[in-house]
Amino acid sequence: MCGIVAYIGPKDASPFLLEGLQRLEYRGYDSAGVAVIAPATKSVPAKLKVCKVKGRVADLAAALPARFKGGAGIGHTRWATHGVPSDANAHPHTDNEGRIAVVHNGIIENADELRAKLAADGALFRSETDTEVLAHLIAAHRADGGELEDAVRAALKLVVGTYGIAVLDAEQTDRIVVARNGSPIVLGIGEKEMFAASDVSALVRYTRQVVHLEDGELATVRADGFRTFTEDARTVTRQPSTVDWEIGSYDTGGYAHYLLKEIHEQPGAVERTLSGRLDERFSTAHLGGLNLDARELREIRRVKILGCGSAYYAGEMGAQLIEELARIPAHSEPASEFRYRNPVIEADTLYVAVSQSGETYDTLAAVQEIKRKGGRVLGVVNTVGSAIARECDGGIYLHAGPEISVASTKAFTSTVVAFALLALHFGRIHDLSPADGRRIVAALKALPEQIRDMLGQEREIEKLAAEYAQSQGMMFIGRVRGYPVAREGAQKLKEISYVHAEAYPASELKHGPLALISPELPTVALVPDDELLDKNLTALGEIKARSGRVLAIAHRPIEARLADHCVVVPKSEPELDPLLLNIPLQLLAYHAAVALDRDVDKPRNLAKSVTVE
Ligand code: AGP
Repeated sequence: MCGIVAYIGPKDASPFLLEGLQRLEYRGYDSAGVAVIAPATKSVPAKLKVCKVKGRVADLAAALPARFKGGAGIGHTRWATHGVPSDANAHPHTDNEGRIAVVHNGIIENADELRAKLAADGALFRSETDTEVLAHLIAAHRADGGELEDAVRAALKLVVGTYGIAVLDAEQTDRIVVARNGSPIVLGIGEKEMFAASDVSALVRYTRQVVHLEDGELATVRADGFRTFTEDARTVTRQPSTVDWEIGSYDTGGYAHYLLKEIHEQPGAVERTLSGRLDERFSTAHLGGLNLDARELREIRRVKILGCGSAYYAGEMGAQLIEELARIPAHSEPASEFRYRNPVIEADTLYVAVSQSGETYDTLAAVQEIKRKGGRVLGVVNTVGSAIARECDGGIYLHAGPEISVASTKAFTSTVVAFALLALHFGRIHDLSPADGRRIVAALKALPEQIRDMLGQEREIEKLAAEYAQSQGMMFIGRVRGYPVAREGAQKLKEISYVHAEAYPASELKHGPLALISPELPTVALVPDDELLDKNLTALGEIKARSGRVLAIAHRPIEARLADHCVVVPKSEPELDPLLLNIPLQLLAYHAAVALDRDVDKPRNLAKSVTVE
């Protein structure tokens, strides 16, 4: 949520700031702003210049004055938490004199209290944001002279909450101070220039050498290097690491949208999730990051999976895989609910946190609560080194590659694959036979090619999407393994096309939602060729008898009296079928959104990483 960039060096900062913000725009896109320090001349001292607007980075670029130049600068793209999207609430925020400028991700929980004290001491507040408090607080600590980093440290000691910040000071033009607590900050090392950002995607075009700050750490960043230290001024040494994701991973690569590119990247993403993890000799999965041996795994009596949104639905598929393959009771719950209900944490339960970004605040808070109570948590995470990954006792990285579009597709699919590996591993430690293990291993290996086949049907799905997008809403139904697919399908459609979509277990139709069925409310029905096929066909008959339109997602053509349209999906093993049944629903949502001319990669009101409660 929100993106931060910073530059210091011999060049003009603005081009990097704008380009970096464009790359981070997926994290938040309701307003944007930059600040630079215009260098001193013989007659005029160095001066802070700020430009910020409600709207997108393109609006900011259009509003930027031609003479907006300076060799040190910070920028921000925002997803509003405190105050509406407006020019005034956009970052950077400044102190009374316009000398200190701050950009901030996160939430300052005691902002109201600090604001009252600062206002009483003469601070003039011009926005409704919590961030502005930081600018005044740092300015107050700079009032007596001293170093900017000391003022930032002193200010942060008074703050309760989460932050990733970058701070400029027009009177100390040779540095930018950054700090991290719960919101990522990465430094980028250049040739006699330095960068900082909340996400490496803003940096990879300029440098592959990065340093990830840890929570509670700050850094002074100068053109010729950096120094990292703790809030108590203790110097800490951080070694740079090399970003291994390709620069092309951060571009649309010729596709119309990131979302379409990411849908098409799924065969490769699944290959990477599986890479080196299938053990054909013992028909099992090899998962080196679990940090649990077979004996410890045998002691686990239950699995509780936690995630938000699509991560939660992927967890529902994961729970079914674990129950089916390992016969261990497993359940998925929204992390956002779990963390608020004083959960019972059991020693023989394995907790699994699921997150693409590894930053989702509710999921992180759930992990911290479990750990505080002595529970054991594994992470199923895409972003290496992210907060959730670091908090967990072990886990499985997805290696799906960066996911930029707000709607999750390839990370969702890779998460389900990761759960299949976990379930297989668990299963083979328990009672899953070698023959069944072989069956699952073979099916996993076949998935990338089957996904490619499925994607080959895009043109037909595009036509169906254009037709169904005109509906007033859509119902998604599935039974047992199909139900999480229906939930994820409905989520994807509503999220990016804004067409109202509801998911129901097919078995529940006659207990209420059948009342909604009419020609205006079509149903997407998951009809896998499994032991529940007859039951699902009966549900289709009930819908057709009420003049409902049906789009069936099935393993073989469904007769015309039961479905108006049918998309035929390659068949896997029944346990893995949900994963493939979901692929056409991604294409359906994408093309419906395009047909309705939606902002596919940046749907209204949303942001990629939800780092607030
Ligand atoms: C997915 O399409 C959504 N944008 C959203 O539900 C997302 O999955 C959720 O916010 C969790 O994100 P995470 O995986 O980064 O934790």
